[in-house]
Amino acid sequence: MKKTAVIPILLSLLTLSLPLAYGTTPPVEGCVTATCHMGMLKAKNIHPAAQPCDTCHQPLLAPHPQKSKKTFKLTEEVPGLCAQCHPLSGTLKHVHPPVKDGMCMTCHDPHESTEPKLLARPVKDLCASCHPDKMDFKYVHGPAATGDCTSCHVPHESNNGRLLAKEGADLCFTCHVDMQGELRKKVVHPALAGGCSSCHNPHGSAVKKFFAAEGSGLCYQCHPQVEEKLKSAKSVHAPISTGQGCASCHAPHASDADKLLSKTGKDLCLDCHKGFIKKDQTVLHGPIQEGKCTSCHDPHGTSYDMLLIRAYSPEFYVSYTDTEFQLCFACHNRDLLKYPTTNYATGFRDGTRNLHFIHVNRKDRGKSCKACHVVHGGANPKLMADKVPFGKWSLPLKFVKSATGGSCAPGCHKKYPYDRKTPGKEAEPEKISEKDKTRAR
Ligand code: HEC
Ligand code: HEC
Ligand code: HEC
Ligand code: HEC
Ligand code: HEC
Ligand code: HEC
Ligand code: HEC
Ligand code: HEC
Ligand code: HEC
Ligand code: HEC
Ligand code: HEC
Ligand code: HEC
Ligand code: HEC
Repeated sequence: MKKTAVIPILLSLLTLSLPLAYGTTPPVEGCVTATCHMGMLKAKNIHPAAQPCDTCHQPLLAPHPQKSKKTFKLTEEVPGLCAQCHPLSGTLKHVHPPVKDGMCMTCHDPHESTEPKLLARPVKDLCASCHPDKMDFKYVHGPAATGDCTSCHVPHESNNGRLLAKEGADLCFTCHVDMQGELRKKVVHPALAGGCSSCHNPHGSAVKKFFAAEGSGLCYQCHPQVEEKLKSAKSVHAPISTGQGCASCHAPHASDADKLLSKTGKDLCLDCHKGFIKKDQTVLHGPIQEGKCTSCHDPHGTSYDMLLIRAYSPEFYVSYTDTEFQLCFACHNRDLLKYPTTNYATGFRDGTRNLHFIHVNRKDRGKSCKACHVVHGGANPKLMADKVPFGKWSLPLKFVKSATGGSCAPGCHKKYPYDRKTPGKEAEPEKISEKDKTRAR
């Protein structure tokens, strides 16, 4: 007990014992009577120390009462008074300013209350009297909406910042018990290290789920490079540009898949692009066989059409240069169309006459790869298309592969065969090889 607290207590004991010695009724016994202080000590919760009154009050003047005169004073000023029985710590790292300033009476009634813990008002109104902005959102978090501020905050002091009852995610896990399992997943988003409130405002916000920012903006807070890239992008993937958001592919908290993805490889893409690979597309392009759509497409956005990661002309005719079709030649050898004659660089040759060169490598009406090939998959070997769009017409190719060459009877010209061994030979139709069969899904 502090020295300052001892003196008034001794004094109050003196004033208590003096009248007794003279045989009069001590004033304190009958403070709550039919005529005096009759409203007092009727509430649901009464301070166990409310009586005797003179623990805290001592007469200042006699007699009592006197009109418009103060005849009692406190035996000790608050908070020292309270500290006599409720040792104030004040030693934890963070002390709530009104507690530090000894304003016990702002929050508590010294005698009684209809509220628990002798609170002067319901917690909700109490906290809101000084922090009016914590429930004033379009979407309010359950415990804040009910005004249960003390489900997360301790009112007096705490070693945790912001007077929090628990630190970081543990605070949230007291109620969101199921979220704890998230942290056991293979990849946990490093954003969680900073607690949950880097993304969710614990009180509420103008955005659903109390996000700190709207849509992708939430993620851009910490991933500005993604935003930067998309700002200058020519094509931005619809789930991002239409505001479905980053969480349509990434789990925001944790995932068992790399990069926090909800699914891996092409399964992720085919989740939305349902039926993209059709049953009759039995020959799939190499990267797709490996399940990698991202070897050609960037899932976020790029400076090319169709989310492509490198240049690839959407046109049917392309005036050829050595920088055209960068997408394809990131994986394939450009030699296949570089030389007018070759005996190795491509299978698309008649003898040594390079038919890729003839079709593609020209300034005037050079054909694009898409004039002959399908890029994802098809029914024919060598990714040869059945039909290709030419204006509004579907131009048929009628490609037939043989062991040493093949033939086309396209809409462009009459049927031409090619043969690597015997140039000019008519092609023998060939059944689909074992190798191509194994490509079927
Ligand atoms: C635990 C300490 C404590 C006890 C015991 C106590 N009081 Fe008080 N009382 C206070 C404090 C503190 C105040 C507020 C003084 C202030 O507002 O500055 C107060 C204020 C009052 C007031 C002024 C009006 C008001 O409500 O603010 C009255 C009247 C009063 N007390 C009556 C009593 C009576 C009667 C008893 C016994 C039944 C009693 N008190 C017991 C602490 C106590
Ligand atoms: C003479 C000792 C004494 C004094 C002085 C005293 N109290 Fe108490 N107070 C008690 C006791 C005894 C309890 C009941 C102990 C318990 O429940 O742990 C109590 C309980 C409380 C409670 C909890 C009530 C509940 O429902 O759990 C609050 C709040 C409280 N006091 C506030 C104050 C404040 C504020 C002051 C100063 C104005 C004060 N007390 C002064 C003895 C005292
Ligand atoms: C900002 C409001 C506020 C102030 C100021 C405040 N209290 Fe409290 N106090 C509370 C609340 C709210 C609770 C109930 C906590 C709970 O429900 O867990 C409480 C609980 C208590 C209790 C009950 C025991 C406990 O810790 O649960 C005591 C005793 C107490 N306060 C004493 C004091 C004293 C003494 C002071 C002044 C030094 C003081 N309070 C200042 C809000 C306040
Ligand atoms: C009498 C006014 C008053 C009341 C009542 C009050 N506070 Fe405060 N509170 C303050 C002041 C002043 C500060 C310091 C300035 C600030 O951060 O706004 C503060 C700060 C805080 C902080 C931030 C602490 C930090 O370390 O940054 C929290 C959390 C808080 N109060 C919660 C509560 C809760 C919960 C209640 C209700 C139980 C409550 N307050 C009631 C005045 C009050
Ligand atoms: C679900 C838990 C939770 C509830 C319920 C809650 N808070 Fe908080 N509060 C927090 C967290 C977490 C922080 C710290 C946020 C941060 O670090 O950005 C905080 C911060 C604060 C702060 C200080 C920083 C600021 O934003 O001004 C105040 C004041 C505050 N809360 C008051 C309240 C009041 C008043 C209530 C009741 C209406 C309340 N809180 C309910 C979790 C909660
Ligand atoms: C005291 C219990 C409690 C605590 C602590 C708590 N929450 Fe909640 N939270 C709830 C309740 C209740 C709901 C509403 C549940 C519902 O509507 O299904 C909710 C809802 C949410 C929602 C919205 C869910 C939705 O589908 O719209 C988010 C996000 C959330 N809480 C995040 C947090 C975060 C972050 C923390 C820690 C800062 C936290 N909560 C701490 C009780 C709590
Ligand atoms: C990187 C930002 C971020 C962080 C950090 C974060 N969340 Fe979320 N949270 C989200 C997003 C985005 C959603 C919405 C998911 C959706 O729409 O599918 C969400 C949804 C929720 C929901 C609603 C239920 C659900 O799964 O849809 C709860 C509850 C929740 N978060 C709690 C937490 C808790 C607890 C933490 C801390 C352990 C936390 N969040 C940390 C971004 C985050
Ligand atoms: C508070 C900061 C913060 C926020 C907000 C945030 N992140 Fe992160 N995120 C990080 C950090 C830190 C890393 C690890 C370093 C890095 O890869 O940049 C990371 C990594 C990632 C990764 C890569 C994980 C891996 O395994 O390589 C993805 C994907 C990701 N975040 C997606 C998101 C999405 C989607 C959102 C919005 C829902 C988001 N982030 C919001 C901080 C954040
Ligand atoms: C359509 C699905 C999809 C959407 C929507 C999406 N991502 Fe991704 N994200 C991916 C895939 C797939 C990867 C892995 C790319 C790889 O491995 O090459 C990835 C990787 C990442 C990475 C890891 C770093 C990197 O670039 O490899 C971050 C960070 C990231 N995404 C953030 C975001 C943000 C922020 C958003 C929202 C603006 C978002 N993502 C939207 C599919 C998506
Ligand atoms: C959350 C759903 C969703 C997921 C997952 C998704 N997409 Fe998309 N994607 C769309 C929507 C919606 C469009 C626009 C409508 C359309 O063209 O079908 C689109 C359009 C595209 C386009 C055409 C872009 C343009 O500019 O016209 C490409 C290419 C694409 N997606 C590739 C992918 C790839 C690769 C993946 C996997 C990494 C993927 N998508 C995953 C929803 C999704
Ligand atoms: C080898 C590179 C490559 C791979 C791998 C690839 N794409 Fe494409 N994709 C393209 C090209 C090139 C285009 C432009 C189409 C055109 O010009 O005919 C395109 C266009 C698209 C389009 C929009 C036009 C359309 O056909 O609907 C979607 C959607 C698409 N791709 C999805 C996917 C998905 C899903 C995967 C994985 C299963 C995938 N892509 C794998 C190169 C590729
Ligand atoms: C990410 C690497 C990659 C990119 C980009 C790519 N391919 Fe391929 N391509 C492959 C792989 C791997 C194979 C399978 C090779 C094999 O089976 O021998 C293949 C096979 C082919 C085949 C069939 C070859 C055969 O022998 O059956 C054709 C035709 C083809 N690609 C054309 C293209 C065109 C046109 C482009 C540009 C739009 C392109 N590729 C872009 C990797 C790629
Ligand atoms: C006029 C039709 C046509 C055009 C245009 C065309 N190809 Fe081909 N390509 C073929 C045929 C036919 C084959 C099959 C050769 C064979 O019999 O093995 C082939 C085979 C291939 C192969 C397999 C390896 C090889 O060279 O035999 C690749 C890779 C390839 N083409 C890529 C491309 C790329 C990249 C483009 C665009 C720059 C392109 N093709 C344009 C008809 C064409």
